[in-house]
Amino acid sequence: MPYVVALSGGIASGKSTIADLFAKLGVPIIDADIIARQVVQPGSYAFNQIVKHFSQEILLANGELDRSQLREIIFNNEHERLWLNNLLHPIIQQETQTQIAMQSKIYLIWVVPLLIENNLHTWADRVLIIDTSFSLQLERLVKRDNISESLAKKMIQSQVSLKKRLSYADDIIVNDGNLLSLTTQVNLLHQQYLNSFKSKI
Ligand SMILES: Nc1ncnc2c1ncn2[C@@H]1O[C@H](COP(=O)(O)OP(=O)(O)OP(=O)(O)O)[C@@H](O)[C@H]1O
Ligand SMILES: [Mg+2]
Repeated sequence: MPYVVALSGGIASGKSTIADLFAKLGVPIIDADIIARQVVQPGSYAFNQIVKHFSQEILLANGELDRSQLREIIFNNEHERLWLNNLLHPIIQQETQTQIAMQSKIYLIWVVPLLIENNLHTWADRVLIIDTSFSLQLERLVKRDNISESLAKKMIQSQVSLKKRLSYADDIIVNDGNLLSLTTQVNLLHQQYLNSFKSKI
């Protein structure tokens, strides 16, 4: 099994950008958001359970799950939120383990936006957190998603604080500079990971 480095950070902190840089070095990337969507594809076990539980009303016209309706239901109903969580959590965890086991490299990057919120850090060998100033995060979010500053502020503030996130970090990438600075930090971490994981075998 490859070693697992969990990469996390707030919204628009640079997770995808940094994962791309690791990918360029040949490091496999596993994305928790993609897995969460894969396990509820039409026809899957979880999909069938969800339709049975909420009825066909939970589907879009194209037969896929209406994820925004589902989000709204569980946001307003703790009982339903727990039901869905209990269904999906083990399935997502199993799929994640399967995808990790399929990789033959010495380590991989597991991109997990809600690593701290969902208590998933115990699944990782190392936790890599992105440190970005609030003002830069805000600026990048507004620009990328073309949304108002007040909405972007709310989105950032609804997440766990940077201070709490950093308290889980084994390693930190500071994303307050340009892409060259990011690349330098990623290259250095990559060498460190190769060295430390090799010496563990
Ligand atoms: N160092 C940087 N210099 C310039 N732009 C950057 C830098 N880092 C990230 N960005 C830009 O900021 C935006 C957010 O970055 P990115 O999409 O990688 O964040 P994310 O953490 O994956 O976001 P999400 O939580 O929505 O998945 C993107 O438009 C990206 O191009
Ligand atoms: Mg992203």
